[in-house]
Amino acid sequence: MPPSPLIASSDLHTLLQNLHSQSLAQESKVDWNTLPKQCTDEFDDIMRDKFIALDQDKCELIYHVLRSINAKTVVEAGTSFGVSTIYLALAVAQNAARDSTKGRVIATEKEPSKACVAQENWEKAGKEIAGVIDLRIGDLKETLTKDLGTIDFLLLDIWTPLALPVVELIQPYLKHGAVIMADNTLKAGAGYENLFAYVDTPNSGFRRVTLPYAGGLDMIVYQ
Ligand SMILES: C[S@@+](CC[C@H](N)C(=O)[O-])C[C@H]1O[C@@H](n2cnc3c(N)ncnc32)[C@H](O)[C@@H]1O
Repeated sequence: MPPSPLIASSDLHTLLQNLHSQSLAQESKVDWNTLPKQCTDEFDDIMRDKFIALDQDKCELIYHVLRSINAKTVVEAGTSFGVSTIYLALAVAQNAARDSTKGRVIATEKEPSKACVAQENWEKAGKEIAGVIDLRIGDLKETLTKDLGTIDFLLLDIWTPLALPVVELIQPYLKHGAVIMADNTLKAGAGYENLFAYVDTPNSGFRRVTLPYAGGLDMIVYQ
């Protein structure tokens, strides 16, 4: 087994392992080639009971980056059942404890039933995790319009048509050196075209690299 960067109890490791296994088992039954377009009611109906959790190796990398940049304020675009949120919250809680300050993960989920399951998973993960999460239920184009603070990190694990709108919304609050991670950037590359055109524009303030994780994982730094 390769080393894990996670500093976590064996109970938390077990919980995460179980959640990732459930997500993968569900995903293996989905026919990804026949899905309706993202951001339609038909697509949302199919996804309402699905984890579609971020892959475990990507979650661990993100935790590692958050510990490295000492992130205290993190936004998650797309929370679902809250699996990746546990990694974000663990890193933020540990960074905050190291500096005796407060940390916050702003989680966003538009489906109330999914938000409810996410909260149950965070309770199971423990007070350290649940205590730093600020869950915003509803359309993130509305829920991310206030009380953001200075943002150290954004996770884009959301339907791709929402990626650029989210970046535009939170850009005024990004600190210099902030990191944005976007999932599935090779597999769903066509959906990210407008975001990439935006960040790749000279003098946009952003620089990005595509990391060789399954489906592509982009790391964008706000200079
Ligand atoms: C890929 S999943 C997130 C998976 C999660 N990051 C994890 O690793 O467990 C994307 C989620 O975004 C939610 N979503 C879609 N459109 C949204 C919107 N406009 N506002 C907030 N959440 C939205 C979906 O309901 C879905 O649960």
